[in-house]
Formats: sequence, C-alpha cells, structure tokens
Amino acid sequence: KRIIIFASGSGSNAENIIKYFAKKKNAEVTHVFSNNQRAKVLQRAHRLGVKALHFDRDSFYNSNEVLRILNDAKPDMIVLAGFLWIFPKNIIDAFTNKVINIHPALLPKYGGKGMYGSHVHKAVVDNKEQETGITIHYVNEFYDEGAIIFQATTPVQEGDTPEDVAMSVHQLEYKHFPEVIENLLFSVEA
Ligand code: GRF
Repeated sequence: KRIIIFASGSGSNAENIIKYFAKKKNAEVTHVFSNNQRAKVLQRAHRLGVKALHFDRDSFYNSNEVLRILNDAKPDMIVLAGFLWIFPKNIIDAFTNKVINIHPALLPKYGGKGMYGSHVHKAVVDNKEQETGITIHYVNEFYDEGAIIFQATTPVQEGDTPEDVAMSVHQLEYKHFPEVIENLLFSVEA
C-alpha cells in the first residue's frame, strides 16, 4: 500500500510515520508534499529517501497539478500531519475515505481555523483543562470537522506550560498515528 504525507512545518510526525513503514513490507510512504518550500519536513523526507515535493497555491487550488500527481501516484491513504491549508474538495472527492488528519487536541474542542500548534496548547492551559489529547479524523472541506476515527488523551498537570502540553501530545501522536494509519489501510477494503 502507498501512503502520501502532506505537511507544512517541521515534520516530526512525518519522519516517525516514514520510519515506521520503512520496517514493514506491505506499506510505504512514497511522497511527502509541502506547501512550504523551506519546511523542514522536505529535508527530512529527502534524507529518508522519500520523494519530497513542493507545490504552490495555484497548483493545489486552480490548475489541478497536485491532483494529477496524486492520480498518477495512486495513494491508498493521504495523511495530513501538520498541514495548514484547507484541502480542495476535488481532491477529497477523488480519494473518498482516504484523506485523514491529526489534530493536537480533543475535537470538537480546540479546532477550527487558527487553532494549530502552540495556539491549541496555550488555549488548553488558559482554560485550565485537566486533560487534552489527539484526534485523528477524516478530512472534509472545513477545518477539523470530518468524522472522528480515533482519540487518545493525556492529563494536563497544574503548572504545565503550553510547551509541556505540546510535548506530551507529540508523544501520543508518535505512539498512535502510525498504528491508526496501518489499521485503516488493512482493515478497510481500500
Ligand atoms: C502536530 O502536533 C499535529 O497534530 C499538528 O501539527 C503538529 C505537527 O508537528 N497538526 P510535526 O511537524 O509533525 O513535528
């Protein structure tokens, strides 16, 4: 099976997923796509021997160039890991139930436009939440609103900073995201 990852930033999740499937015989990450030419994720992919591609707004939303590359690559799963642009409807429709995202909070709490990265963890701390976590969900054309596939929680201790929370959430992501992808790939008739 073939997995394609979209990411906008550092890509520590992307690296974790690439390495997880590099050890398996039945699935691999074939490409990493980024809207950000300088994103560290592209260097990580390159170092790990995965095709790294940068695209601009026009090739994503207007010219269908990204869709054409995806159609040629025939991914069984498209994984968004820290990808910050709304996915175009025509790509979602071309890959029904194959586009998933990870969000670093317990949706429907702390989702939506502007709720990403440190903004999420700061809001969680400011609201004195006692727990937070991760949500893996299908992608639709709205931020963080598709059907939920998986959630896992982690406690927020009194005195935790947003950085502390980010760290425990990242640990949850590393632990669960590859396995959830694997389960989806091999349990659903794709
Ligand atoms: C993750 O926390 C993910 O949930 C969020 O963006 C972060 C990406 O981190 N949407 P990284 O680039 O994988 O290190």
